[in-house]
Amino acid sequence: MGKATAIANPNIAFVKYWGKADDALNLPANPSLSMNLAALTTVTTVEYRPGLQGDTVTIGDRLATGQALARVVSHLDRVRAMAGIEQRACIASRNDFPAGTGLASSASAFAALSLAATRAAGLHLSEDALSRLARLGSGSACRSVPAGFTLWEGDRDETSYARQIASPDHWALCDLVAIVTHEHKPVGSHDGHALAPTSPFHRARLAVVPDLLTTVESGIRERDLRAMGPSIELDALAMHGVMMTSRPSLLYWQPATLLVMRAVRSWRREGLEVYATIDAGPNVHCLCLGADAADVEARLRNLEGVEDVLVSGPGGGTRLVEYHLF
Ligand code: DP6
Repeated sequence: MGKATAIANPNIAFVKYWGKADDALNLPANPSLSMNLAALTTVTTVEYRPGLQGDTVTIGDRLATGQALARVVSHLDRVRAMAGIEQRACIASRNDFPAGTGLASSASAFAALSLAATRAAGLHLSEDALSRLARLGSGSACRSVPAGFTLWEGDRDETSYARQIASPDHWALCDLVAIVTHEHKPVGSHDGHALAPTSPFHRARLAVVPDLLTTVESGIRERDLRAMGPSIELDALAMHGVMMTSRPSLLYWQPATLLVMRAVRSWRREGLEVYATIDAGPNVHCLCLGADAADVEARLRNLEGVEDVLVSGPGGGTRLVEYHLF
């Protein structure tokens, strides 16, 4: 038995995961592709202790309860079953970025938890197996396990995990997250997925995903933002089209979300290479080349309604900070 601390970065999807083929196993309706975000981190410590009656989970400075606690406990139950142990654990997790605003906190949370919980239990999983385990906690978490740019595909439990398509130092692409609100979103992505099939546009989006994936994957390999940017924007709009037209409708955008999207288009007309994507929240991720990041950041900060801008390049994979076996 032991104690382990792991660190993970969230990721921003360039081709999104929206809708599930299997709800219990988090098998996605379509493959997705993302970049880990170096500047944002989740650090999680898991310590198994004999004699504990139940798992205690602290997220930030608060004890987790309800659905958040239940998700962590059932993930630990998976790890306990793999390791053949019964001990309950103390889990402490901390993000250095705001949760619940479309910044994918569940991705880094379940990636870091999977590594810390397995290592503290004395298990050494391969990267593929760790990504697969993280997927069971939260689908997008599997993409935060390998470093850099990752592709999540595979349609069965055994084959559905993320693999690296390019390392973080392959390309200094930059994500500038225009924060337009720090408020918690009303419907999280975890609950939103189930609504995707109720939209008449869900199938239409799925039909274009294979082409978008090919374009974005080769754009990353060739370091060609101009080639892949329009496909990234298109998929974000297609996903939000599905969200808005599902029953009930999900409308994540705020007025400032649209303002940033329009500004990005006008800067592009001026020749600045920048593209926008949005997850299940109102904040806008603006993608540009590292050399243009300072310019884009200054422009974003000048826009009314932009409260803050987070700047990140490609991040590493989920990694261990320390561990002790007792
Ligand atoms: C909009 O991974 O949070 O961010 O598997 O139910 O935990 P669960 O969902 P989650 O969904 C992420 C959705 C998204 C798009 C993406 O990251 O691909």
